[in-house]
Amino acid sequence: MKWNKKDILGIKELSPDEIQFILDTADSFVEISTRDIKKVPTLRGKTIINFFVEASTRTRTSFEIAGKRLSADTVNISPSSSSLVKGETLLDTARNLEAMSSDIVVIRHHASGVPHMIAKHTRSSIINAGDGTHEHPTQALLDMMTIQSEKGSISGLKIAIVGDIFHSRVARSNILGMTKMGADVHVAGPATMLPPFVDQWGVSVHTHMDDAIRNADVIMMLRIQTERENQNIFPSLREYSRYYCLNSDKVKLARQDVMVMHPGPMNRGVEISSDVADGVHSVILKQVAYGIALRMALLYLLAGETK
Ligand code: CP
Repeated sequence: MKWNKKDILGIKELSPDEIQFILDTADSFVEISTRDIKKVPTLRGKTIINFFVEASTRTRTSFEIAGKRLSADTVNISPSSSSLVKGETLLDTARNLEAMSSDIVVIRHHASGVPHMIAKHTRSSIINAGDGTHEHPTQALLDMMTIQSEKGSISGLKIAIVGDIFHSRVARSNILGMTKMGADVHVAGPATMLPPFVDQWGVSVHTHMDDAIRNADVIMMLRIQTERENQNIFPSLREYSRYYCLNSDKVKLARQDVMVMHPGPMNRGVEISSDVADGVHSVILKQVAYGIALRMALLYLLAGETK
């Protein structure tokens, strides 16, 4: 396959063949991070700007590391130190970044649709690093890479996604991706955290967590967005964790070789107990490690000599 997309905006825009091509390309980058000198010249002379208007540890850092491992020049901009605080529009900021000959802008924003809007008005490649409650495509791609690498394939697996499906861009992107790749996806959460018409997304829907995780090959727990505690979607964190926390008793309902995932950051003791987060089934830190190779692959496909 020849890569011909300018941007990575969402899983919605990717075909199963394109997803598989990205995962295969990412596989070929895994080995670089095991070397003593973790650097190849692939993107020498290219400029990547990380423009994160919302907080991030994993995504921002791994894009920066991925760019540096490919020898690109990487620049980080934070909103508090940019001219956004002086009232400059996002589009003017993006056009100014483009005037500096950026090849790729990686953007995270609290408003859904911002990366799409910027992509439409700039020639630089845009990567969506999470937009509002809409999509987090690079997280879903690294999650699918983790599953494929550890389980051999995604197709036919029972995958349970548990928690605040409604507000989770990670859930949305993973549901789109995993169903495209042939998984049997089950979602579970309190009714207030399930999007309307979620049953039309090609998934099985449960309000009882046990029904989703029984005999699951993969359980993905979502971060409870504690900032939503006073929005009347759940009574208290204590009540939530009583019904929806993945603890070692609940893990026993799944298959013996179940893989436990979490995109981070975790609320230990709320959606996942510490013994499960750090236990034998957990691949949470492997997800982070695969994330480097996956993001190297995306930078290479968008800015490398692939066309
Ligand atoms: N999973 C994820 O997006 O983590 P960060 O918010 O730390 O980037």
